[in-house]
Amino acid sequence: MSYNLLKGKRGIIFGALDANSIAWKTAERVFEEGGTFVLTNAPIAMRMGQIDELAKKTNSEIIPADATNIEDLENLVAKATEILGGKLDFVLHSIGMSVNVRKGKHYTDQNYDWTAKGWDVSAVSFHKTMQTLYKQDAMNEWGSIVALTYMASQRVFPNYNDMADNKAYLESIARSFGYFFGRDKKVRVNTISQSPTATTAGQGVKGFDDFISYADKMSPLGNATALDCANYTVSLFSDLTKRVTLQNLYNDGGFSNMGVSDALIEKFSE
Ligand SMILES: NC(=O)c1ccc[n+]([C@@H]2O[C@H](COP(=O)([O-])OP(=O)(O)OC[C@H]3O[C@@H](n4cnc5c(N)ncnc54)[C@H](O)[C@@H]3O)[C@@H](O)[C@H]2O)c1
Repeated sequence: MSYNLLKGKRGIIFGALDANSIAWKTAERVFEEGGTFVLTNAPIAMRMGQIDELAKKTNSEIIPADATNIEDLENLVAKATEILGGKLDFVLHSIGMSVNVRKGKHYTDQNYDWTAKGWDVSAVSFHKTMQTLYKQDAMNEWGSIVALTYMASQRVFPNYNDMADNKAYLESIARSFGYFFGRDKKVRVNTISQSPTATTAGQGVKGFDDFISYADKMSPLGNATALDCANYTVSLFSDLTKRVTLQNLYNDGGFSNMGVSDALIEKFSE
């Protein structure tokens, strides 16, 4: 269903790797709502992914950019505004990667070069993206910037490893940069804290499938899907949420405010 919420709005969507990606679902929904955008991902991810298919479906162009590389970001923002024919109304940062997680390094035994790399990709890239948009004055007034995060930034989830720290840093950047973006350009900045979701990034986390079931049983509404996240993001890109900013917003079926659920107690009494 389409409500035309994003008619006439232009933006950039980072992080669509394959059809499971939250960014992929978001691009499809933004397209349905009348938004136009440029898709971007790391050059290496483009070789692995199927982003061409998404670009075709959504009539969008692809501009490769490593989100940790300032030159790539400057080129991306300059080209995107040129292709789309004006300043931007929305940007989705849907990027995360921990080298320690990928290589099976435990949280108590980190390789700090990998820690720094994961921090740069997962958190600082958000600052770099916003700084580039801010310096090029590339956002329209009342535009909206969203990044995706996970609850392990606020509470302990042992297997989330150093991504927990990266997400805490990411959420802080949203508030700190969001202040300046709001004050100077009337642009809002928020993070969505999403339920565990079966994607390439998600599946890197140890014991992920069991964990998805646990979260689902704990949440009165069950886990939020990638499509739910896409819909929430559409609402944050729309004019219906103009003064929502500096927030970390939970899209998690109620998980974040739960202590225990009947469904879980039942499991233990089996
Ligand atoms: N899957 C989950 O359970 C879950 C839960 C909460 C939040 N999130 C967050 O959602 C976001 C999207 O992840 P996803 O689950 O859709 O997985 P995904 O693997 O589909 O997306 C991650 C994306 O990050 C991109 N990326 C990695 N390094 C990059 C770089 N240097 N420059 C540009 N892009 C780069 C990848 O190519 C990929 O497209 C991430 O921030 C993730 O942490 C995911």
